[in-house]
Formats: sequence, structure tokens, C-alpha cells
Amino acid sequence: MARVPEAVIEEIKSRSDIVEIISEYLPLKPAGKNYKALCPFHQEKTPSFMVSSEKQIFNCFSCGVGGNVFSFLMKNEHLTFMEALKMLADRAGIKLPSHPDRGGEGKTLKLFELNELAAVFFQRCLEKQEGEKALKYLRNRGLSRETIHKFRLGYALPSWDRFLKEASRKGFSPNLLEEVGLALQRRDKSGFYDRFRNRIMFPIFNVRGKIVGFGGRVLDNSSPKYMNSPETPIYHKSDNLYGLNLAKEYILRENKVIIVEGYLDALTPYQEGIGNTVASLGTALSPGHLRCLRRYTKEVIIVYDGDKAGVAATLRGLDLLVEEEFHVKVVSLPPAQDPDGFIRKYGKEAFLEKVEKAPGLFDYKLNLLLSRYDPDSAEGKARIAKEILPTIDKVQDAIEKRAYVKELATRLNLRGKITLGEEDILAELRKLRKGKPSSAPPLPLERGTALAERYLIQALLQEEELVSEAKKLLGTKDFRDQRYQRIAEAIFELESAGKPTHPGEVISYLQDEELGAAVARLAMETSPYSNGTQALTECLKRIRKEEKKRSLRECEEKIKEAQSRGEEELIRNLQFEYQALLSK
Ligand code: CTP
Ligand code: MN
Repeated sequence: MARVPEAVIEEIKSRSDIVEIISEYLPLKPAGKNYKALCPFHQEKTPSFMVSSEKQIFNCFSCGVGGNVFSFLMKNEHLTFMEALKMLADRAGIKLPSHPDRGGEGKTLKLFELNELAAVFFQRCLEKQEGEKALKYLRNRGLSRETIHKFRLGYALPSWDRFLKEASRKGFSPNLLEEVGLALQRRDKSGFYDRFRNRIMFPIFNVRGKIVGFGGRVLDNSSPKYMNSPETPIYHKSDNLYGLNLAKEYILRENKVIIVEGYLDALTPYQEGIGNTVASLGTALSPGHLRCLRRYTKEVIIVYDGDKAGVAATLRGLDLLVEEEFHVKVVSLPPAQDPDGFIRKYGKEAFLEKVEKAPGLFDYKLNLLLSRYDPDSAEGKARIAKEILPTIDKVQDAIEKRAYVKELATRLNLRGKITLGEEDILAELRKLRKGKPSSAPPLPLERGTALAERYLIQALLQEEELVSEAKKLLGTKDFRDQRYQRIAEAIFELESAGKPTHPGEVISYLQDEELGAAVARLAMETSPYSNGTQALTECLKRIRKEEKKRSLRECEEKIKEAQSRGEEELIRNLQFEYQALLSK
């Protein structure tokens, strides 16, 4: 990899504001002089992810991740440092000196580039004579030119290698096409062919609007109806919700999200002005999906197809939502209707009314079970209870939970009987509870380290002016904790090189994920001292005192040893040394 001149890195850094960049991924809310959000790297209910504009760093106080703008991109987008640098350079309109691509490096970005190339190509094909019937199909399905444009719909020609050729002209190898799911290898391994042929193309975007994959629909009733990109280094089906890149601002504004199943089910509501719609693309809702959503809202309305498969899919994902304290409502559509079909047939208002009046998950599920099993028979009662108990179990709010228990008892006519009632339901619930582990997030840095070292490093990170003074008073060897020692080393070395020592720089210098996170955390945490000078003085005093105690103890040990061997001369010398240490 050709080295990027430091001046260029500096320029890129200075033009990449961490708050602006992280905002592209998650909504940041002002909190004092910082910004906060729900941490994207672990599941949490109250925000502990903080971003400092002043210090250009981020840190999650709960799970401990942290770093500068590069660390964020590397972690969030699974990029190498060079890839993150390139991404920020592109963003800032700075040209990086070109470098030979040595395997691996820059791969992820290449995959995105390739998808982008494909999307543009498919879009152009839709405009061409050859794409006429595809465009007609889309128009017939009620999509406006604007929607087609906005979602970047396209058309893959009925050819085995049109895109392969296009891509190779632009310098992309067939292997790379295969890796990103655009090409398939022939069975005899003699070459490759286009995966998507004669299909309407739906690019699948990540939350930032970058294309991670595609779905391709046939223009008739042939099968398979949809062909999708496989899992690739940049496309993870269960971590992606279709349409979220466009829907996110509407979700924030409305504080609710409508989850549908298919591409068209997301497009049609969007076109009709119901912008807070995303699609799970036929996969069951997963924790990854929730992680995407929880940054925007906790209010979820599920609108799946009104057929049996739809109902099953609905029920599968929903307990998960409850557990994560989402408020879930479920819209049931008439049989054989999906959101797209429903809106076309009955209109936007009818759809919105369905959404408004949707029952909560518990009612929805209970009604469904009551219609499926006979609540008058003992067996029916047991079945219903058995299937709904896991849902009730996951309700976090005690009062709400109790209300559901009561309701279940009433609906199953359990009340009044001597042996069956709320107590029985509660007993069953308790059985479910057993054996569930509770987990606590690890607390980084808090493990048995000398606090003085911690606060001293913190002072140096928070007040750069102290560094040169501190360097005169102590060396890195004064830190007993390896981590603090390495951070101190970085700070001092930067200082010696005449470079700034603010946290962002220290993080870059360290090139270590864990240490970088520690630096971010220390830089952002409030110091228990009133100012840096005080922290420095007090902590140094503590460290010296510890040192002295340690030396005294060591000396004592030696004296004892010498006494046991009766080495008078040595004993005298050591005792002298001991006195000297004491009076220091
Ligand atoms: N799906 C898929 N592969 C299939 C069928 C479905 O990946 N063979 C996914 C697609 O994301 C699709 C969603 O599941 O959008 C819902 O499937 P379905 O209801 O069958 O399709 P619709 O989205 O309603 O498509 P259309 O209205 O165009 O028929
Ligand atoms: Mn449909």
C-alpha cells in the first residue's frame, strides 16, 4: 500500500466532522456539549453512546466501544483503516494518491462500487428500448417515474453476460462480481454468467443509501418470482431493512415504523406519502433488524400479508419485539391482500385507518389463538395458554404483564373455577422464567487498576497543556498498568514529535481498538478532580506513595532474608537503605 502523506491524512481528518459522519448512521441528540444515541454496537434501552464534537471522539459508557472517526467507520462498516480513510477522502472530495491494490485492501469499497455500477447500468437499461416492457410493467403496477427514480429501480437484460462485460470494461474481475453476488460461476468452472437476467431490479440499500445487494423480479408469473443477492461481505439479510435509508427521517418524525414484507409493499405506501415504511424482504424479523430500528423508534406496526404464511411469519418475530420493549401492533389484512394490493384497491386512507386501529400484539395473538383452538375445551385452553405465555413472559412492564394475565384468564373463562385462574397462569409463567441467565455488560478499565494512574492519564487527555509538564515529572515506567503505560507512551511520543496530543490523535497513534476505546472513554468521562493540575499533582503523589510503599516492602523482604541467613553486613546496609527510603 502506497503511504498516504501525513498532510493528506490531516486534511481528511480536519474535514471529517465526527458528529456529522456518525449522524449519517444514527440519530444523535444533543446532550450538554456532547451528543448521545442508542449504541449501535450493543442492544440497550437508554442511550449511553456519546459523541463529542469538541474532542472528535465517541464512546459508549455501557459496552465500552470508543474511538475517533476512523474507529467508528472501521467498526461500523467493517473497514480497514485505509478503507475508512478512502471513504472520508471521497466524502471530503480529496483525492488520495493512487496505489496498487494489493488483494484484500479496499475490497469492501470495491464491492460497493461494483453494486453502484450495476445499479446505474440496470437503471439505464430500463430507459432503453430493450427495457420498455419492464418499464411498462412497473408503470402498470402503479409506480410513478419519481418513485422508480427514487428507489433506483432498473432492469437486467435477458442476456448471460451483458453486465459481466460492462463490469470488465470498467476493470472489475468476474471473481469480484461473484463475491458481491452479481455473477455466478458456471458449473464446469469454465467461466461466469450474470445472476440477474430479464428481471426488474430493486437495489437494496443500507441505512446510508449505499447499495448492498439486489432483488430481481420476473416480469410475469414465472418462478422463482424473486431472485436475491446472497449473503456477501456487505449484505447481511438479517441486519438490513429495505427502505430504511429513505424512511428513517419519517420514522423519527412520526415516531413509529410500519414493517411490511415485500419490495412493492414498501414502495407503494412511500409513494402515497406514508414514508415511515420498511420491508423485511420475506425474512423473519431478527435481532439485527431491531438493532436498526431501535435508534429511531419503539413503536412498531406490523403489516404482513393476509394469508397463512404471512400470519406465521408475523408471529415468529414478534415475541422478540416485545422482549426488546417495542410496542407492537399488528394489522391484519383481508386474505390474499398485501399492503401494496390493499392500498391500490382501497386507497391510502383505508390503509392508514387500519394502521391507526391496529390491535396490540397481545390482543392480536390471543384473538388468533381463540379462533384457532377451541377455548371451551380443556385441551384448547391449554394450547392457547401455552402459545401465548411466552409473549406475556417477555413483557417487561409488570403492570402491563399483570393485565395480560388477567385478560387471558377472563378470555379463557378461567375465573371462578376453583383450580384454574390467574394464579395458575402466573405459576406457568414462573416455570418459563427459570434458568434464564441475566447478563451484565463488561465494565472496561474498572478492573483492579490503580485509580491514580487512570485519573492521571485522564488529565493528560483532557488538558493537553499538562503534557509537557507531566513529562518532566514522570516516565511511562511509573505506570504499573500496561494499558496506561502504552497510552502514556503514545501521548509522550506525540509530544516529543511536536504533534498535538488530543484524544483523536492518540487513538490514531495507538492503532489498537481496545486502547482507543479506553482513551475515548477517559477523555469523555468527568474527572473527579476540579482541574487538570490538581489531578496531576494528587495522582502523582498517590503514584509516588505507592512506589515508596512497594520499595519499602521489597526492602523489608530483603532484610528478613538477610536476617535468616545471618548476613550482618548486608542487614546493616539494607536498614540504611530502608531509612533513606522512609525519609524520602
Ligand atoms: N421473496 C423472495 N423470494 C421469493 C418470494 C418472495 O425473496 N421467491 C421475498 C421478496 O422480498 C418479496 C417478499 O418476499 O418482496 C414478499 O413475497 P411476496 O408476497 O410473494 O411478493 P410481493 O412482494 O408481494 O411481490 P409482488 O407484489 O411483486 O408479487
Ligand atoms: Mn405483492
